[in-house]
Amino acid sequence: MTTLTATISIERTKKSRIGEVDFKNIEFGKHIADHMVMAEYSDGQWQTPSIVPFGDLRMSPAMLALHYGQSIFEGMKAFRMKDGRINIFRPLRHHARLQKSLERMCMPAIPEDMFIQTLHSLIELDSQWVPQSEGSSLYIRPLVFASESRLGVKVADKYTYLVMTSPAGTYLNKPFKLKVEDKYVRTAEGGPGFAKCAGNYGGAFYPSQLARSQGFDQVLWTDHKEHKYIDEVGMMNVMFVINGKLVTPALSSAILDGITRDSILRLGRDMGMTIEERRVSVAEIEEGFRKGTLTEAFGAGTAAVVATIGVIHINGTDYTLSSPGPEAFQNKVRDRLNNIRNGTAPDVYSWNYII
Ligand SMILES: Cc1ncc(COP(=O)(O)O)c(C=O)c1O
Repeated sequence: MTTLTATISIERTKKSRIGEVDFKNIEFGKHIADHMVMAEYSDGQWQTPSIVPFGDLRMSPAMLALHYGQSIFEGMKAFRMKDGRINIFRPLRHHARLQKSLERMCMPAIPEDMFIQTLHSLIELDSQWVPQSEGSSLYIRPLVFASESRLGVKVADKYTYLVMTSPAGTYLNKPFKLKVEDKYVRTAEGGPGFAKCAGNYGGAFYPSQLARSQGFDQVLWTDHKEHKYIDEVGMMNVMFVINGKLVTPALSSAILDGITRDSILRLGRDMGMTIEERRVSVAEIEEGFRKGTLTEAFGAGTAAVVATIGVIHINGTDYTLSSPGPEAFQNKVRDRLNNIRNGTAPDVYSWNYII
């Protein structure tokens, strides 16, 4: 562990930009912290990473990532704990998912120690950027892309690994109005939907924009064959409480294996909930609304933890859920997760990586 940390070279910024951040009113993604991690892959191996001031890159217009989309990323968070220490949440699980994305896109693996130690060194250096207020965090964005310059479709021989961070404020949990998507797909079985690759996001923009222009906040993605079964919601996993059970679509190649999803399922199980990971049809959701057996619906993801769903538009009808009270599962599980992350509840699952 110590070997790599010792060899990561650090070039400090001459002038911090932290004074530009209004920590009382953080706008997500607007301010990127002073430094970033950078490493190049060439000659069949990752070269020693360095930490440099955040800034523009020099790149060739023929850089392969721009043309053929060999580009993947992660989205994770570090939290200021109640005792002032900094906690990176589940970095090993994020690393495991990063590997799956890299493999799916024919990109070279990032060794676990390189990932953990570059995150550790970067966040230690930019520790002032981790906000103090409750519910806030430092968003962490690892990114790997094909940097070889060459025209012609091929798997690249050169890659760049970057990590940048950005302060994030408290998530405003305003209930979503959803449209069941019955024309477009985010991905298909056998496609790269389970990977966090850039193209999945670009491809989702058009149907999402269309839904917004029709008065919806997000799209409820359905399977590519029949649009009968639910995959995800927007850029989150989706969960329902039906007959008192926690129900969520089983993972498939079309669903991202969300770390929040996994954490909520784990906590839910330990809270005594019956968990069902299986196919969830639109018809079942509609019936749940009609019979009153569907009592909660929410998105699960790093940005929000829990994003309440208020309305689902199915076959021409707006089905509405009442606002979840303090006893609702989604509120209880979110509080439990937050308490583990901020150190007020014991970290019984070893999810916290404390700097
Ligand atoms: C498509 C998609 N699904 C689900 C998620 C939720 O994953 P996580 O809980 O790891 O943030 C994300 C966000 O990363 C996503 O982009």
